[in-house]
Amino acid sequence: MRIDIITVLPKLFEGPFSDSILKRAQDKGLVEIHLHNLRDYSTDKHRNVDDYQYGGGAGMVLRIEPIAACINQLKSEREYDEIIYMTPDGKVLEQTTSNQMSTLKNIMVLCGHYKGVDERVRNLYITREISIGSYVLSGGELAAAVLVDSIIRLIPGVLGDETSALTDSFQDRLLAPPVYTRPVEFQGHKVPDILISGDFKAIEAWRDDQALIRTRERRPDLLD
Ligand code: ADE
Repeated sequence: MRIDIITVLPKLFEGPFSDSILKRAQDKGLVEIHLHNLRDYSTDKHRNVDDYQYGGGAGMVLRIEPIAACINQLKSEREYDEIIYMTPDGKVLEQTTSNQMSTLKNIMVLCGHYKGVDERVRNLYITREISIGSYVLSGGELAAAVLVDSIIRLIPGVLGDETSALTDSFQDRLLAPPVYTRPVEFQGHKVPDILISGDFKAIEAWRDDQALIRTRERRPDLLD
């Protein structure tokens, strides 16, 4: 899979993509992440990419020309399955969307900034608009990093244990059950007996029960 990210702050991605699972996925050649600095596509001598909004009002807007130049350049090089815009007024990201996107070949992600992008960018180029929650971030970069992380870990071969992505919270619309590791007792608090019983059928049934109980308590909306 190839992911192209268009941003005014490419440095913000250095941390999240240079460690752990995301780094390993790139090292193994399972995913290629390409960062594009929007300022490189500005024809302005100061490399400006934003301007005041028509009609007045506080906050700058990302201009269409540099964005169009960058998107068109990338589109001339390969076909994209999705061109995604990260925005608080997009559809809230769900596991099902990440699952579906993990099967795609080429995706482009545009990060908004300031007041957002000129509406014509959204109308002309964007195929999907995604929010990571009902709150406003300073820009789309952290949201894009969340989206990309949620997708990459689902690509076959990325996680060491192939089954572990399937047992994540939300995969079956349930939260994940509690987990324990050594020691079997800590300051009088014991691991549930069932988990050390060796009875794998009973353990599986216990985990299913716990997932349901936890979901009912914490996220009853998932059961609707
Ligand atoms: N940009 C700013 N806030 C955002 C959010 N909640 N989701 C996606 N992109 C954003």
